Amino acid sequence: MVTPTFKDPEIIRKGALINGEWITEGPKFDVTDPATGEVIAQLPDQSIESVDKAIDVAYDAFKTFKNTTPRQRSQWLRNLFDLMTEYNEDLGKIVSWENGKSLAEGKGEVKYGASYFEWYAEEAPRAYGHTIQPATPTNRAFTVKQPVGVCGIITPWNFPSAMITRKAGAALAAGCTVVIKPDAQTPLSALALGYLAEKAGFPKGVFNIVLSQSKTPEFGLKLCESPKIKKISFTGSTNVGKILMKQSASTLKKLSFELGGNAPLLIFKDANLENAVEQAVASKFRGLGQTCVCANRIYVQKDILDQFVTKFHERVSKFTIGHGLDEGTTHGCMINTKALSKVEEHVQDAVSKGAQIIAKGGRRTDLGETFYEPTILSQVTQDMKVAKEETFGPLAAIIPFDTPEQVVSWANDVDVGLASYVFSENYATLYSVSEALETGMVSCNTGIFTDCAIPFGGVKESGFGREGSLYGLDDYMVIKVVNLGNIPKLQV
Ligand code: SIN
Repeated sequence: MVTPTFKDPEIIRKGALINGEWITEGPKFDVTDPATGEVIAQLPDQSIESVDKAIDVAYDAFKTFKNTTPRQRSQWLRNLFDLMTEYNEDLGKIVSWENGKSLAEGKGEVKYGASYFEWYAEEAPRAYGHTIQPATPTNRAFTVKQPVGVCGIITPWNFPSAMITRKAGAALAAGCTVVIKPDAQTPLSALALGYLAEKAGFPKGVFNIVLSQSKTPEFGLKLCESPKIKKISFTGSTNVGKILMKQSASTLKKLSFELGGNAPLLIFKDANLENAVEQAVASKFRGLGQTCVCANRIYVQKDILDQFVTKFHERVSKFTIGHGLDEGTTHGCMINTKALSKVEEHVQDAVSKGAQIIAKGGRRTDLGETFYEPTILSQVTQDMKVAKEETFGPLAAIIPFDTPEQVVSWANDVDVGLASYVFSENYATLYSVSEALETGMVSCNTGIFTDCAIPFGGVKESGFGREGSLYGLDDYMVIKVVNLGNIPKLQV
């Protein structure tokens, strides 16, 4: 059993957080270490009535929280950023323990997640309106941005900390209160944030967390249908996003959805090859391929295919796969065995249709049920499952191409459009290809690009709404216009 030690043992919470109270009663569900299957916590599998309670509390808290000054909210957010920074080691261990990623990646996620609180501490006082001269000469108008209301925040297991901070950071900065439903596989990071939010000084009822393993769809339905919730922010699969959107129709909620991707990574023959290899590896294997922005299809221009494949393989063979908390581990385990089965399905499909095996990879049962050594395939084609669907795992699929027109049409030939990548030393190629790619984010000559300062979000069936950046706050606010009539112009 791998049991990390924590500088502050209180950071491991044992219950849901509603109105500043930690609720531990009721039937429990197990949280397990995905690397070993061992139970690391038992948390309440709450009832639907608990969600009602959390919504009521957040609704009442909103009545006063919306009237706090942006400067005050900024200070609380800043406190939270400082606390996350102080607790980086403890929080990183929690992420690694419950998600399986390496400790370095866990701590990196916490640092990245904290940056959203810092960012929104700075954005909170900057929700400016406009003044407008309407057509009627005696009218004047001005706009104000106001918080949308109570927000339901539904988050996934692949970034148990950062997917909460970038939603909650914006919501709290705007003056909204939140009810958070974390994934049942990784709830400890969410609860740790609740603990720090209390320490940061947020009033009771502003930051609520509900827990469920057995009734997750019912919790989602409740949040979507409640007239007291005015906004849903969700990161997860496109299929679940479509369900939540239907469920939200009855109350016409404001929505932000960050859904699945199938990121193409395009490497042109004039790219800096060393950089392209390094960055393609970083993008493909971040979180062992389990991020929505991981390169899923690696398109390489035929002229440099052999060199690229050799170097890519060399680089991947240096990985050390192991328990996320073990020293020296570069890449941890996958979240569960279902995730491994999907990788295997894509490998089998591609190989049966003629893909060339560069590195066989496969299950590492010597390490545990959820460990998978990366597979590298070349000569992958557009008709294979791996080109059509997101694998969400450590399978690198390399697809040779001839021309920019061909590769862009292949890259765009999917229903989703979250992230894409382009590697070239020619600025005109970078520019024209970026313009033509149907994704919300294009990263040129780097495989790791996400940052609180840039707008994160997709197009097509990857969803809508933008998180972080100068746009992120707007997703949690509504614009009100105030028109003032009968104002004469002074004749001076
Ligand atoms: C995601 O996988 O959805 C998030 C990736 C990131 O924010 O870097």
